[in-house]
Amino acid sequence: MTTRFRHRLVHPPEWPVYTERAQRETARLVGRGRTFDYGHGPEISRLEETMARLTGRPHCLAVNSGTSALYSAYFALGIGPGDEVLVPTLTFPTTVTPLLLLGAVPVLCDAGDAHGNVTADTLRPHLTPRTRAIGVTHLWGHPVDMDPVVELARANGLLLIEDCSHAHGSTYRGRPVGGFGDAAVFSLGGVKTVSGGMGGVLVTPHRRVHEMASLLTAFRQRSRATVEDPALTPYIGTGLGANLRMSPLACVLAQSHLDDLDRLLRAKAGNFRRLESLLADCPDLVPLTTDPGCDPGARYGLHLAVTGALEGRRDEVVAALRATGLKVRPPTTAPLHRDPLFASGPPGGWALHPGVRPGRPVRPAGPHPRADALWDSWIALPATHLYEENSTLVDAYAERITAVVADLRERAPATPTRSGR
Ligand SMILES: Cc1ncc(COP(=O)(O)O)c(C=O)c1O
Repeated sequence: MTTRFRHRLVHPPEWPVYTERAQRETARLVGRGRTFDYGHGPEISRLEETMARLTGRPHCLAVNSGTSALYSAYFALGIGPGDEVLVPTLTFPTTVTPLLLLGAVPVLCDAGDAHGNVTADTLRPHLTPRTRAIGVTHLWGHPVDMDPVVELARANGLLLIEDCSHAHGSTYRGRPVGGFGDAAVFSLGGVKTVSGGMGGVLVTPHRRVHEMASLLTAFRQRSRATVEDPALTPYIGTGLGANLRMSPLACVLAQSHLDDLDRLLRAKAGNFRRLESLLADCPDLVPLTTDPGCDPGARYGLHLAVTGALEGRRDEVVAALRATGLKVRPPTTAPLHRDPLFASGPPGGWALHPGVRPGRPVRPAGPHPRADALWDSWIALPATHLYEENSTLVDAYAERITAVVADLRERAPATPTRSGR
């Protein structure tokens, strides 16, 4: 395509971006040698207080990644060998993989809504007498329809865990995500909306879960400050086997994003609404809408669905958009049931995973047709470049998307392909 475009395409640096103040504060900590904290110093406690307030939960524990937070949550809730845990097939792998370390059996469930989230209806068919817990991910920041899921968990005596790693600032029926389950985790790492580079938190309404997670992740000083249950205090000196502490430097960086969260949420929402209205008349490439009563917060992921005349041509559309300079791609992390780990077990068999007894299956490898169809139709926009109120960038995207769609609709389809991962 040789079109000349009106709007210049200039991407700001990719997220995470840190204010000068945050950079000065971390430099000051480095200057004082405060690069670790075995205890519960002001950087960690401020971050934990902020995340507890954001989710309305009384207890929060900072750890060194979202993955560590998930492992700690499952461990502290007592999930163990043979326990079946219903989890989404559309999620990041580490929502699920820590369960393998505990000898639990992840049960992959299909997407039930247009955002790729599980619903009570896609979870329910997988209940068995061995089901112990439900884990949900608020995928790309759009909340799961929680009321029926909470009811399903309650009616069946199941634990409920929320993975909110995409959903900083998201709300469901006016309540923040992270406030529905027995434990919720947020990654505070990488390109997440709130990022300390590496980091994560666990929030919970249960003091015992908080204390067990503290013992797992931080022996001695931190657990001495946190653990009060007389049944658990004897283990403070040794801890329970891991050291997963968050660095105070990472806390300061993540805190700087939390302090700016309202502005970030406004900017992302404004950009998305503008794109939605600019593409309102663009056929076949449709932004995912927001369900009533839901606020997708900082919109960790922004996706367009390829539909209508372009259906089945996602990879061709991506290639054509990229040729105009747009930073679009298929979404990261294909449905987990397509992944070798879940489809056939680790290479070399389960013996590679000492926590899992040989022969214990991951159930079910599939089919999960809704998750497949959604993932095969989505195009990810670069949400990590859309964090400023930046109408020029949005306009440049809308202009190129509209032109590419018009061009492709005129041309015969190439043979549709299905991407792997
Ligand atoms: C949904 C989800 N859960 C968990 C994680 C893991 O977080 P971390 O990278 O901080 O370990 C990620 C990371 O991308 C994620 O997207």
